Amino acid sequence: MNETLVRAEHLHRSYRTSDSEIVALRDATCCISAGARIAVTGPSGSGKSTLIQIIAGIDTETSGSIAWPGLGAKGGLRPSKIGMVFQNESLLPPLTALENVQVPLLLQGTQPEDARSAAREALERIGLSDVADKLPEELSGGQAQRIAFARALITAPRLILADEPTGQLDRATAHHFFDVLLQSLAKTDTALVIATHDASIAQRMHVTWRMQHGALETDS
Ligand SMILES: Nc1ncnc2c1ncn2[C@@H]1O[C@H](COP(=O)(O)OP(=O)(O)O)[C@@H](O)[C@H]1O
Ligand SMILES: [Mg+2]
Repeated sequence: MNETLVRAEHLHRSYRTSDSEIVALRDATCCISAGARIAVTGPSGSGKSTLIQIIAGIDTETSGSIAWPGLGAKGGLRPSKIGMVFQNESLLPPLTALENVQVPLLLQGTQPEDARSAAREALERIGLSDVADKLPEELSGGQAQRIAFARALITAPRLILADEPTGQLDRATAHHFFDVLLQSLAKTDTALVIATHDASIAQRMHVTWRMQHGALETDS
C-alpha cells in the first residue's frame, strides 16, 4: 500500500451571494496516495477547480476535513510539497523562462547561483534550453505550459495538481505536453492529479474521478 499524501472527508464548499447559496462541492471524500495518476473530469462548473484548490490548501472547505499526512503541512500551515500548474498563463510576465523556473527555489532560500543551475538543468530535461532567455509573451502556448510545469517540479514536490493545463492547447500539443510530463514523473513516486475536459488525456491516467454538480465519484 502506497503512502497516503492527502485524505479528504465529506468536503463541502459553498458560496453565499446576497440572495442565494451556490454549492460548489458537496460531500466529497477522496484519498491521494504516492505515485497516483488521477484525472478529474466533469463539465464546466462541476467543481473541479474548487476541489483542486482545497486539496492545494489555497481554498478552505465550508465543512468536512482535509489532512495532508505526507505533504509537510505543519502547525496549520499550507502543505509545502505541492506543485501547481494552471490553465491560463501563470508565468510572471516580466521574468524570462529561466527566471520563472527559479522563483520557487529562490522563495525557499536557495542560493541564486544554485537556483539558476537547477533551472537550467530542468529546461534541458524538457528540451527547452533554447527559450531560456525568452519572456513569456515570446513563448508558444505549449512551451509556456511546459515551463510552468518545470517550475512546479523544481522543488521536487510529492504531489502535482494541474487544473486543465492543456485547456488552451491543440490536441497534438496537449499530448506532447503530457508526454513530457509523464516522462519527467516516471521513476518517481510523485502523485499527479489533473483536471481535464479531454477524455483522451484522462485515459492516460490510471484512475478517473468524475464530478457532477459538486458531487465527486471516485469508484473506491
Ligand atoms: N468565488 C466564487 N464565487 C461564487 N461562486 C463560485 C466561485 N468559484 C466557483 N464558484 C461556483 O462554484 C461552482 C464550481 O466551480 P468550479 O470549481 O470552478 O468548477 P469547474 O472547475 O469544474 O469548472 C460553479 O457553479 C462556480 O460558478
Ligand atoms: Mg475549473
